[in-house]
Amino acid sequence: MRPFYVTTPIYYVNDAPHIGHAYTTVAADALARWHRLNGRPTFFLTGTDEHGQKVQRAAEKLGRTPQEHADLMHVRFKALWERLDIQYDDFIRTTEPRHTRFVQGLLQKLYEQGELYQAPYSGWYSTSAERFWSDEEVAAATALALGKPVTAEDLHNGVVGVCPDTGSGVEWLTEHNWFFRMSAYQDRLIAHIAEHPGCIQPDTRRNEVLGYLRKPLSDLCISRPKSRLSWGIPLPFAPEYVTYVWFDALTNYVSALQEPPSRLAFWPEALQLVGKDILTFHTVYWFSFLFAAGLTPPKQVYAHGWWLMTGKKMSKSIGNVIKPDAMIDAYGADALRYFLLAAVPFGGDGEFTHEAFLHRFNSDLANDVGNLSHRATSMPEKWLGSVVPPVGVQTDEDLELQAVAVRATAAFRANMDLVQFKAALEGLWELVRAGNKYIDSQAPWALNKRGETARLGTVLRNVMEVVRIAYSYLACVTPQKSREVLDRLGLSAPDLDPTFDRLVTGHPVSHRDPIFLRLDAIPESLVSTDPVVPTTAPVAAPAAPVTAPAAPVAAPVAQIEYEDFAKVQLRTGLVLTADKHPKADRLLVLTVDVGEEKPRTIVAGIAAVYDPVELVGKTVIVVVNLKPAKLRGIESQGMLLAAGGSDVASILTPYRPVVPGSIVK
Ligand code: MSP
Repeated sequence: MRPFYVTTPIYYVNDAPHIGHAYTTVAADALARWHRLNGRPTFFLTGTDEHGQKVQRAAEKLGRTPQEHADLMHVRFKALWERLDIQYDDFIRTTEPRHTRFVQGLLQKLYEQGELYQAPYSGWYSTSAERFWSDEEVAAATALALGKPVTAEDLHNGVVGVCPDTGSGVEWLTEHNWFFRMSAYQDRLIAHIAEHPGCIQPDTRRNEVLGYLRKPLSDLCISRPKSRLSWGIPLPFAPEYVTYVWFDALTNYVSALQEPPSRLAFWPEALQLVGKDILTFHTVYWFSFLFAAGLTPPKQVYAHGWWLMTGKKMSKSIGNVIKPDAMIDAYGADALRYFLLAAVPFGGDGEFTHEAFLHRFNSDLANDVGNLSHRATSMPEKWLGSVVPPVGVQTDEDLELQAVAVRATAAFRANMDLVQFKAALEGLWELVRAGNKYIDSQAPWALNKRGETARLGTVLRNVMEVVRIAYSYLACVTPQKSREVLDRLGLSAPDLDPTFDRLVTGHPVSHRDPIFLRLDAIPESLVSTDPVVPTTAPVAAPAAPVTAPAAPVAAPVAQIEYEDFAKVQLRTGLVLTADKHPKADRLLVLTVDVGEEKPRTIVAGIAAVYDPVELVGKTVIVVVNLKPAKLRGIESQGMLLAAGGSDVASILTPYRPVVPGSIVK
């Protein structure tokens, strides 16, 4: 049988695990369990991403070495995976020698093949923030600090720029770095994706990647000088450099398969689950690294959506995270696993609310499947001496139920192959609901009363078989509860056969407490520990999460006269449309009604923090008398006000609704 390899992203070791991380990992676990259950040799990899400046800084602050810090922090992920019953086959940490060895071997190979070259890398360097900023970022921060427009040209002509993070001065610095010839793989990437349309799913995401590949691909900087960032993997041919985030991180999926060598057989069958935020890295970057390494790309990269709270991506930097531990305490691990997979089609975004969770818990788990299994063991206890009754003569109704079992399990199977958990579970629920209806229509209590013991036995046997089938299929989603219920029926392992003669006749059946207990209200513990979500919470940047600016170190501010301020004309504007800039990842192109005859086009550097869709319909504040400027080929007829410097934390909106074009002063 073809092997099956499933991976999750390796999570940043610094972050506390939240529902978003749990989501990908539960999904991968459900798939791994499903394929194991079907006898496919399966390998499931997860792990932690442990290098980089953030880890180095956090460790320094705490007086630890980065390694000590990573050793302490990665355990939080392992502990959560244990609570969530995640059966991974390997947990890779990028600081492990096996990973370092592989990355260095690969770098050496690419170097010898001429895939890597050294070139200057220039930008505005902030010593206080220890990072580079672009022209636009520094110009925007400097304009805010000086209270007047500043262009990139001004910065190169003597105006002292300030660091958007710290407000201290920046300097133009050129350093040499190592680049990977990614541009050389553009055509091959396009051809590969065209030949293997299934390699990026869902289809809409594949089209996005193809869209990205329509513009010329640049080469990729893969190093940092050790003098600036030491917490990385040294380049074997230039040890004064370390390799930089994505090259190090992506390689984990293959470095974990090096030992023992038999693991390598899994690679071509890889299904890689990722959040939509890191799809470009997992396709454009990753596939070209693999081409250069002489390996085939994974069979499929599947990008799922985000869990949102009040419309914003759940993320630590916003503070709107749901803590998985609290949910497990309140509902149990299986309920959380079920909710994550059943609530939203895999690929789409989902709003997380406690009300929705409670509703699903009560309806799907307590009422439907929980009630079914409870009835299946309580009735034999009352009337049949708690044993599995024999299969009797099947009526039309029995055969219909049997047909539903075949149909529902086939639907489950087909949808699991498509990585569509919600549809798979809905398919299975057809059987669960039919099982409950069957009990109602066959009325075993009446059969018992009338003394029709043979028919009573047949009916209850059919019900038990339905429970056996439902909980066997559910074993990949709710493993603990499935184990418990199957054990009550005398089974030590799931049995996926949809026919009604699989249980052992005469085997004892044990009746115990309901498997999912209905709850009347959202558990107190969740209500009181819920984070307060600021109404203007920004969306975290896909690649680099928004961080609140460090303690505001106010840059020296030049004072102006009121007349100067009065020169700036501000008005409210209603966002009519919002799209990504075709030529710049950081920019969005908006059309905004500012009360004039025609809406204005405004180009804003907020793509990292806002999804275009969420801006439509928002009222913003616009500088309406700024000279139009072309930004990457599109003329911007104004500027939006935003808080947070160049790392935009939030665009500004009026406190109360106002008509478009209202004067702001
Ligand atoms: N370390 C990189 C990944 C390197 S993989 C070679 C990284 N780590 S992360 O800790 O930020 O985790 C990213 C992944 O966590 C996302 O791709 C997604 O799988 C999951 N999620 C984090 N927040 C999420 C939501 N709010 N909703 C759904 N999943 C999200 O990026």
